[in-house]
Amino acid sequence: MPQLKIGLCGQEGSLKEKFYAKSKAAESCTKIAKKYTERCVNFMKKVGFTYLSQEDILNLDIPYKEIIDIVEGALAEHGRKKVEMPPKPGVHTRPMTFIHAMPAWLQEQDVCGIKWVSGYPENYKYDLPQIAGLLILNDPETGMPLSVMDCRWLTAVRTSAVTAVTAKYCAAKNASALTVIGAGVQGRFNAIMLKEVVPNLKVIYVSDIKEEARKKYAEDISTKLDIEVMPVSNIEEAIKNSDLVLTATQRLSQPIVPLSWLKPGVCCFGLEASRAWHGDAILGVDKFVTDDWEQTKYFASHGAFPDGLPTLHGELGEIVTGQKPGRESNRERIMAINIGMAIEDIAVAAKVYEKAVEKGVGTELSLMEQEALF
Ligand SMILES: NC(=O)c1ccc[n+]([C@@H]2O[C@H](COP(=O)([O-])OP(=O)(O)OC[C@H]3O[C@@H](n4cnc5c(N)ncnc54)[C@H](O)[C@@H]3O)[C@@H](O)[C@H]2O)c1
Repeated sequence: MPQLKIGLCGQEGSLKEKFYAKSKAAESCTKIAKKYTERCVNFMKKVGFTYLSQEDILNLDIPYKEIIDIVEGALAEHGRKKVEMPPKPGVHTRPMTFIHAMPAWLQEQDVCGIKWVSGYPENYKYDLPQIAGLLILNDPETGMPLSVMDCRWLTAVRTSAVTAVTAKYCAAKNASALTVIGAGVQGRFNAIMLKEVVPNLKVIYVSDIKEEARKKYAEDISTKLDIEVMPVSNIEEAIKNSDLVLTATQRLSQPIVPLSWLKPGVCCFGLEASRAWHGDAILGVDKFVTDDWEQTKYFASHGAFPDGLPTLHGELGEIVTGQKPGRESNRERIMAINIGMAIEDIAVAAKVYEKAVEKGVGTELSLMEQEALF
């Protein structure tokens, strides 16, 4: 992990920061470090953290390629089993909704924190986004919060970066046509990230239940990516002509894509934990991959995969680290249902925080002013 600002502010905090830097270089100092930490706690004056709004994060302008590399690094750590990431607990305050807690520690990068993210598909009625929430990044040395940040952009880019990493290893080399079903936030970011890793991408077919949404998507994404984007209402024809198929809709009551529409060599991505795909597609493709098998099984126990779980080819981390192959033939049909992992959020959040500190972006807030509680 890069040397990040420690959550203690004021004179004692900066001394402590210097001390930690030195003690990292000389492990024999551990005992002295412990004593020093005790003194710091006693002398504590103030603990602060950096608040980063969505707009603060957008202003950092972190390149998409960098996000893909960070997410690939996190997946590799997952593949080497160097992460602590308990399955997401959550509350479900209305039908079809969730607020999930997603804690994680990436041991090799030594970054940790938690995302508290909500998914409310009916939020459009209130002029609010479906996905929203906060992420807390903690100092792994002291547990102190370093930063509290909006998690909407993080969720959008890390999810789409996972799709990009999947495509890097599982898409056909000459893939050129992509169908996107669901022209919302994920539909957009996934197309942008896929363009980073699919060099021959030439056309995107986009569908959405809202005609206006698919038209606007076509305008925006064709300009952004400088490729042909065609709004379509006949998804069967579009999918039958596509090398990549992505579903990014809301939670569906009925699946929409059967196996018979999938051409040889296709790579499919379902962001709704299987719900957009008929059971025959999920069970009938040549390879099924996911980011985390435990979480996939957990989601299955809560209603996803109603026709049963497929045989797992491998987790993405195993593919990225070479323990399992990705695509092995140009006729294989591969399906990825990536559930979304907290390590992806925390790895990207650490980069966001590092850049914010570098550029002096964000608002410094106080957590506590003094040690005494009464
Ligand atoms: N796996 C992950 O890690 C992960 C992360 C974030 C979001 N998601 C999921 O991705 C999906 C999309 O999220 P989002 O933030 O882009 O939502 P969004 O509300 O921005 O977009 C969803 C779009 O899908 C359209 N839609 C709904 N039902 C449809 C249907 N039957 N056919 C075609 N279009 C339809 C809506 O009109 C909307 O434009 C959600 O299901 C969300 O839970 C998954």
